[in-house]
Amino acid sequence: MTSILENRPGLAAEIGRVAEVAGYLWQKGWAERNGGNITVNITEWVDDAMRALPALGEAHPIGKALPHLEGCWFYCKGTQKRMRDLARAPMANGSVIRILPGCTRYEIVADAPVLPTSELPSHLAVHDYLLAKGSPYRASLHTHPIELVALTHSRKWLEKDVATRMLWSMIPETKAFCPRGLGMVPYMLPSSVELAEATIRTLDEDYDVVMWEKHGVFAVDTDIMSAFDQVDVLNKAAQIYLSARGMGFEPEGMSEAQMQELSTVFHLPK
Ligand code: 13P
Ligand code: ZN
Repeated sequence: MTSILENRPGLAAEIGRVAEVAGYLWQKGWAERNGGNITVNITEWVDDAMRALPALGEAHPIGKALPHLEGCWFYCKGTQKRMRDLARAPMANGSVIRILPGCTRYEIVADAPVLPTSELPSHLAVHDYLLAKGSPYRASLHTHPIELVALTHSRKWLEKDVATRMLWSMIPETKAFCPRGLGMVPYMLPSSVELAEATIRTLDEDYDVVMWEKHGVFAVDTDIMSAFDQVDVLNKAAQIYLSARGMGFEPEGMSEAQMQELSTVFHLPK
């Protein structure tokens, strides 16, 4: 069978980056079984031959109208598919979908009829939100990073920006490479429309990465590698905090003045 990736080097490279990140998620222990999901807006790679492709089966409802997704195409991890399998075979463990006119339904176009992730309501609603505000962000990542999820089992770290300040103060790179910090979304049922709406409300407070309490993170960025990087630096900071606690002391953290200096010198937002 021919793949949609054949003779499309741009699209193949984009999906190659998704596969690379999927491998990292597995290696980090953040992707047990089918844990986590990725979607990427691939509309810029779509050509006339792709537009002429027939659907692989029936149209599926999105659950709500998302008007800014008119004409959009996405690569989506398949539901119940493993990141470690996607790393080897992205088109057998994910699929390309197109949004149908009216933006209430989508259909699977390639390469196989793999049903998209159960978190599609959050992913598509977030892509709709990003397009509405003219954002250049095209990738969204949901994963289960161990130490960040552990933090959300304590009320203290769920307070707005308490975890952000602690994480930023562990190592200067955290604020430099995740300058908007970590938003908090209270526990909600996975894959629910309520979770999608709360995710958007929190991203809209000007975060690129939000925590889903006792579940995982949801991150957005220009491409999937950059979204992964933001989660990686945040989780590294959480690991440093927990290592210090494991050595028997509360880590001192960088001072407010040191963090302020960092923001000024590197022109960081907030
Ligand atoms: P999917 O296999 O449907 O992508 O679900 C994984 C997950 O992490 C749900 O929150
Ligand atoms: Zn999850």
